[in-house]
Amino acid sequence: MSVHKQKVKRVTTHVLSEMKLRGEKIAMLTSYDYSIATIVDNAGIDVILVGDSASNVMAGHETTLPITLDQMIYHGASVMRAVKRALIVVDLPFGTYQGNSKEALSSAIRIMKEASVDAVKLEGGREVIESVNRIISAGIPVMGHLGLTPQSIHKFGTYVVRARDKMEAEKLKADAKLLEEAGCFAIVLEKIPAELAREVAESLTIPVIGIGAGSGVDGQVLVLHDMLGITQEFSPRFLRRYHNLFAEIKGAVGSYIQDVKSLDFPNEKEQY
Ligand code: KIV
Repeated sequence: MSVHKQKVKRVTTHVLSEMKLRGEKIAMLTSYDYSIATIVDNAGIDVILVGDSASNVMAGHETTLPITLDQMIYHGASVMRAVKRALIVVDLPFGTYQGNSKEALSSAIRIMKEASVDAVKLEGGREVIESVNRIISAGIPVMGHLGLTPQSIHKFGTYVVRARDKMEAEKLKADAKLLEEAGCFAIVLEKIPAELAREVAESLTIPVIGIGAGSGVDGQVLVLHDMLGITQEFSPRFLRRYHNLFAEIKGAVGSYIQDVKSLDFPNEKEQY
């Protein structure tokens, strides 16, 4: 039965920690608009991430850096109007929280007030801990994000697997602990060795959600457009494609064009 036919119990940050406690894996996907979020929520997803990957998949930018706070609020509010069950997390975009913690708090407050979502996510550990502290002190739930942090792509210079060497792995473990102590309700680990991710998940009491971080974590997240096969060029090893929507949509559009050109559409029954 779809979730919308039942009495719907909202997923909260507390529900996620209970899921970790009983060993139930958390399923998280991105969405950026009302129509898609309606389907994703109806299917029973636990967490919807309004990711700054919208910068890539919705706006066609090379990186996540250009997307603005206003644009993230627009996407967040569109998703919020669709969702009845899932916990909704919105990414704080690049440049809205790294500068100082006061600015970080006002960015997070704008998202919570104007998009009416449940939580924010931001990238980084020790470097952004003041911002994390200040946002959480204001009562706003924060999800951390460590490992490959796409907002720092110009520092890394590449999207290869992170924390393969001991020093970076130790820093990641320390950052994860710091985020948990600051009060983050969950952490995303992106593109790091599976053993390291498992170790972090086992050492923390908050849920750890992986993308390219193996199966030893408490949940998984993928970018919806990637797992549905709408995007074509992005093919990392961790991505499982559940559909080839690029081909399906292209086929349907091709049939429509043919029907219009051949005068097959509209037929007698499709007009007044
Ligand atoms: O923006 C995003 O979609 C993300 C996920 C890749 C975790 O941060």
